Amino acid sequence: MNYLMKNYKPIDISFDYGKGCYLYTHKKEKYLDALSGIGVCCIGHAHNEVTKVINDQAKKLIHVSNLFNIKNQQVLANKLCKISGMNSAFFCNSGSEANETALKLARLHANNKNLKNPKVIIFDKSWHGRTIATLSATGNKSVQAGFKPLLGGFIKCQLNDTKAVKKVINNNNVSAIILETIQGEGGIRIAEDKFLKEIRKITSQKDILLIVDEVQTGMGRTGKWFSYQHANIKPDIVTCAKGLGNGVPIGACLGNKKASNLFTPGSHGSTFGGNPLVCSVSSKVIDVIEKNKLCKQSENIGNYLINEIKNKVQDLSVVKEVRGKGLMIGIEINIKNSNIVKDCLNKKLILNLTSENVIRLLPPLILKKNEANFIAKTLHQILKGYSNEK
Ligand SMILES: Cc1ncc(COP(=O)(O)O)c(C=O)c1O
Repeated sequence: MNYLMKNYKPIDISFDYGKGCYLYTHKKEKYLDALSGIGVCCIGHAHNEVTKVINDQAKKLIHVSNLFNIKNQQVLANKLCKISGMNSAFFCNSGSEANETALKLARLHANNKNLKNPKVIIFDKSWHGRTIATLSATGNKSVQAGFKPLLGGFIKCQLNDTKAVKKVINNNNVSAIILETIQGEGGIRIAEDKFLKEIRKITSQKDILLIVDEVQTGMGRTGKWFSYQHANIKPDIVTCAKGLGNGVPIGACLGNKKASNLFTPGSHGSTFGGNPLVCSVSSKVIDVIEKNKLCKQSENIGNYLINEIKNKVQDLSVVKEVRGKGLMIGIEINIKNSNIVKDCLNKKLILNLTSENVIRLLPPLILKKNEANFIAKTLHQILKGYSNEK
């Protein structure tokens, strides 16, 4: 008898423990985790320093309400503002909740400006979460199926289409734009630097909030702390989660001065958000990334891995394109419903398929060259089997 709801369809493999880039089953079979729990365990499984801080903090204090000053929150907010260039932080428990917060800030911004019928621009193939507001802001019809009525007020444009965005802005009261600089669930689709710069320029001119969803791209994943830093822009609002806690549930919504002034006491909150335990862990994750220069490592090993994959699979007929930045890599193939995930699992490699036909790699930032070689070699073996030139 299975007492779980039917929203997941888990693979019949169960892991007992992990270490670094590897996961081990109860039978001690070893798998290379090139997905990191979908971009979460960025500094690897069972990291010594994370384990220690969880133990130390749990012995002292796990939770206290936000009715009191939480010192660990202050420390973490300070670190996050330093690495992001933002001015304040709100803590919550997930990426969806961080984006929900950002969308509420957009509402406040619109109401303060007395905007009639305010709109938020979103992008095709985007993914911002599963709550009703973030699902409504997501540019993926199949995950929205069955959940109507969704929230109104969102207008969808194509990524990298500046003209379309300008047209929407000229014809509507737009309060905010929300985007991912690399669409993760959407199939590793990259927003061009030029597009991001133009969007920043127009949103600044028109007093429109630019919200960058860094839930999947943040925390060093793409070779910088946050992926908007590649384009040298600063958003008004940045959301993050996933790698922020290396596995403990934490999300954050960061704001610049303009966005920081929107909330007033009582206007938003979260019971668990930013408790002493998760904040101490997240602070440690930032320290570990910094101390071990893992942003640079992600860039270097990411470049190496992308090149290795390109060298090995790019010319196979099943492969359409290999793309990515740092350790966020997609291999678009021209078949759907393949068994590639299972084939890779048989070779003890964990990855997934997103957007139906894009093989996604999000390995831990501590990935080594021999592990990158194993990923490229395995992908070549598997993809060769799906190509004409066997
Ligand atoms: C870009 C992006 N935003 C938001 C979310 C939602 O995050 P969560 O599942 O933590 O609510 C995800 C999850 O995959 C994501 O990739």
